[in-house]
Amino acid sequence: MNFNLSEEHIMIRDAARDFAQTELLPGVIERDENQHFPKELVKKMGDLGFLGIMVDPKYGGSGMDTLSYVLIMEELSKIDASASVIVSVNNSLVCYGLEAFGTEEQKQKYLTKLATGEFVGAFCLSEPEAGSDATSQKTSAIDKGDHYLLNGTKNWITNGGRADVYLVIAQTDRDKGSHGINAFIVEKGTEGFHVGPKENKLGIRGSDTHTLQFNDVKVPKENRIGDDGSGFRFAMKTLSGGRIGIASQALGIASGAYELALKYSKERKSFGTEICNHQAIAFKLADMYVDIEAARYLVMKAAWDKDQGNNYDVSSAMAKLYASKVAMEHTVEAVQIHGGNGFVKDYHVERLMRDAKITQIYEGTSEIQKIVISRSLIKQ
Ligand code: CAA
Ligand code: FAD
Repeated sequence: MNFNLSEEHIMIRDAARDFAQTELLPGVIERDENQHFPKELVKKMGDLGFLGIMVDPKYGGSGMDTLSYVLIMEELSKIDASASVIVSVNNSLVCYGLEAFGTEEQKQKYLTKLATGEFVGAFCLSEPEAGSDATSQKTSAIDKGDHYLLNGTKNWITNGGRADVYLVIAQTDRDKGSHGINAFIVEKGTEGFHVGPKENKLGIRGSDTHTLQFNDVKVPKENRIGDDGSGFRFAMKTLSGGRIGIASQALGIASGAYELALKYSKERKSFGTEICNHQAIAFKLADMYVDIEAARYLVMKAAWDKDQGNNYDVSSAMAKLYASKVAMEHTVEAVQIHGGNGFVKDYHVERLMRDAKITQIYEGTSEIQKIVISRSLIKQ
């Protein structure tokens, strides 16, 4: 594994950094406060190719590798984790899911628009009674010949209010357990499909999260993704890539907080010297830097595994588990280094601390990542 970034990767990282500084930083506090992320900013991310980073150019994507995706995610997340979760869901759950498992017709109809940002996608697995325990789906899809009839509730759906295309996981045959689950493409506005109100959240407040209700929604047969009964494996494989996205989001939140804390500690004085000269603060900075670098290597390893065609189920779980822990612990330290200023919105670190928490919860909680990792260890 080569730890030097290529010139192309540096250019991609710098383009994302520049976009984050010029387009995301202004207004990030207001977006957090108002729980809003404007369409125009999503369009700008689409124009830069950030919504179809790894998608084949023949479907309108940027054709980049997973490492490029990680670099873009880190830079966006340093400034605005609400922006980066829109990017992450669209790229690694929706576009990847369709590109890897969809039919040519599905790719032409949906992926080409999702990869360019003309459409935004959502991934709908979680339910009020089936979060971590994802096989215990209650949403049903009954085979009616030329269509399925979809009934049930999905909750916590990111992009729930803004999406055009929803990938929905549902039970078609309860007796078959995880082998009786399928994934479907549901278009916005389909009769019987209702989007509930926006959740009022602790963090990533610019990102919209909604409950979705399906009441006798007719889904054409051609909108099923993959072979009959492959929906759970579809969800798990897709989530392995998604976890690389969330790991890089956590890495970005942590490194954003670290950069702010380092800068502040070199400016703020107490007892006649800059606070970075107090060993208690200097050691915090050292701990932050080491842990962030360690998280970066795990994230890069998972991305590398995916790019090499290796199995990345465990490396992505490890990257997410560790990077999210580092993000949570060190955003708290960044607030501490800022003293009272850390507690107010203008200094950004309190938002990063609130945003960090979700990285330990979504796309599989930390406990679920430990299940994935430990099962693989025991099986070996
Ligand atoms: N790839 C392919 N197949 C897989 C797989 C993978 N990564 N993981 C499991 N499977 C297969 C298994 O091999 C098994 O198939 P067989 O019966 O043929 O052997 C089948 O799927 C069932 O697997 P398990 O027995 O391991 O299932 P389980 O009930 O024990 O659950 C779990 C496993 C890992 C805990 C899983 O339920 C899980 O990941 N839960 C967390 C759910 C989650 O991450 N939700 C995220 C929602 S999306 C989101 O959050 C987006 C966002 O915030 C932005
Ligand atoms: P539960 O499964 O009820 O877990 C509660 C606690 O018990 C957790 O600490 C968990 O780790 C622990 N636990 C559960 N089972 C075990 C076990 N076997 N061993 C040890 N500990 C266990 N979902 C989507 O499908 N699409 C999305 O776009 C999406 N976006 C989200 C956005 C936000 C802001 C949030 C908050 C959630 C989102 N989710 C989404 C849902 C998310 O994936 C779930 O919240 C998560 O998987 C956990 O499920 P749960 O909330 O039902 O918690």
